[in-house]
Amino acid sequence: MKLADTKATLSFSNGSPSVELPVYQGSVGPDVVDIRKLYAQTGMFTYDPGFLSTAACQSAITYIDGDKGELLYRGYPIEQLATNCDFMETCHLLLYGNLPNAAGKAEFTRRVTQHTMVNEQMQFFLRGFRRDAHPMAIMTGLVGALSAFYHDSTDITNPEHRDISAIRLIAKMPTLVAMAYKYTVGQPYMYPKNELSYAGNFLHMMFATPCEPYVVNPVIERAMDRIFTLHADHEQNASTSTVRLCGSSGTNPFAAIAAGVACLWGPAHGGANEACLNMLEDIQKMGGISKVGEFMEKVKDKSSGVKLMGFGHRVYKNYDPRAKLMQETCKEVLAELGLENDPLFKLAMALEKIALEDDYFVQRKLYPNVDFYSGIVQRAIGIPVPLFTAIFALARTVGWIAQLNEMIGDPEYKIGRPRQLFTGSVKRDVAPLAQR
Ligand code: CMC
Repeated sequence: MKLADTKATLSFSNGSPSVELPVYQGSVGPDVVDIRKLYAQTGMFTYDPGFLSTAACQSAITYIDGDKGELLYRGYPIEQLATNCDFMETCHLLLYGNLPNAAGKAEFTRRVTQHTMVNEQMQFFLRGFRRDAHPMAIMTGLVGALSAFYHDSTDITNPEHRDISAIRLIAKMPTLVAMAYKYTVGQPYMYPKNELSYAGNFLHMMFATPCEPYVVNPVIERAMDRIFTLHADHEQNASTSTVRLCGSSGTNPFAAIAAGVACLWGPAHGGANEACLNMLEDIQKMGGISKVGEFMEKVKDKSSGVKLMGFGHRVYKNYDPRAKLMQETCKEVLAELGLENDPLFKLAMALEKIALEDDYFVQRKLYPNVDFYSGIVQRAIGIPVPLFTAIFALARTVGWIAQLNEMIGDPEYKIGRPRQLFTGSVKRDVAPLAQR
């Protein structure tokens, strides 16, 4: 970041002296006012719950232009990455800043595939969960537990430890997600098959059984790979900021990523794909497309508490570019599986059409986000609804770890410690129990 020519001046109506604040420019996007010395200079904090106007860090990984509906990983548009590259190349890009050449890709893929197995003890750890446990509950536990298995790579200040943890996490997440699934359905775990692609191996671990050969369908494999690529990073979203804050204490990478998994679970974030599919199924049960109008009235009625899941975004005030790509993949997968007339897809298209023309959504700039179509694709592939968010976590792991590593390498990095506007009781005395 570089100092801008402009300076910001903060003045006060009570006659206190005004303060000059430096302004920094990024390579693109809004400038930032540097308020780090504000408290020292004025005794005041800034107030910004939900970080509506606060840049919590500098980052060179992902850029979003929410008004244009643009998403760039290390400068490359998501559309080009999703069309011309696969997830392994995207991981390399996010972690190391450049797209690998053929030899670099082969080497990176080899390093990842070397780590796809998890310690055999993991299955005993899994056994402690109820069979009907939510996969995100299992994932939060399993990812946190990894730090108990890899003592040789838990020093976050050591770049080699960070790199090997990154590779281990990327390699093991598909194995853990597939194990969580197999556990809940009571099937034997399938060991990874390293001759398969990253996405192909995940499909194999999910859907193969020891009883018969499993052949990966290339259309589904491509769709899975695209789901991973589209979810790989999204700058300072809630789970990534959680990973950064958690990691800022110097905790180990596995613990920091487990915190990200926990945050992602919420329905306003990664849990929206599950919530969106449940919503579509509910409308379908109510009568399908004929009930869309009625449902939309509920969404617009604030007292109902109903939201159109898969719609709206803190940053995008235009069509989420990932939603367009996901809709394309959705059509491909449904055609491949002979499900072109899938009623939920038709319902989603009808909802989208109405929402895009409705004043409520137009005025608030609410557009479909990535989760609007991803659930339909995953359901068609045969992935159970509660597993959707775990797959999001699998894909986002590379983004989390790239951002965590970037933070640790940043000379301006400090432990994260927000301040507060205190509105509670001022100092008072404790009365003895009998007098309260
Ligand atoms: N349905 C109906 N109304 C909505 C929706 C929606 N999906 N999203 C926002 N609004 C309304 C909201 O009620 C508010 O109205 P008003 O100005 O009258 O009070 C206005 O639009 C602005 O919304 P907001 O809640 O202030 O916006 P936010 O930036 O705090 O929230 C959001 C963003 C994603 C949490 C929200 O849009 C939402 O809950 N969407 C549904 C959940 C969802 O699809 N989440 C996935 C996000 S993308 C994947 C990811 O990053 O994890």
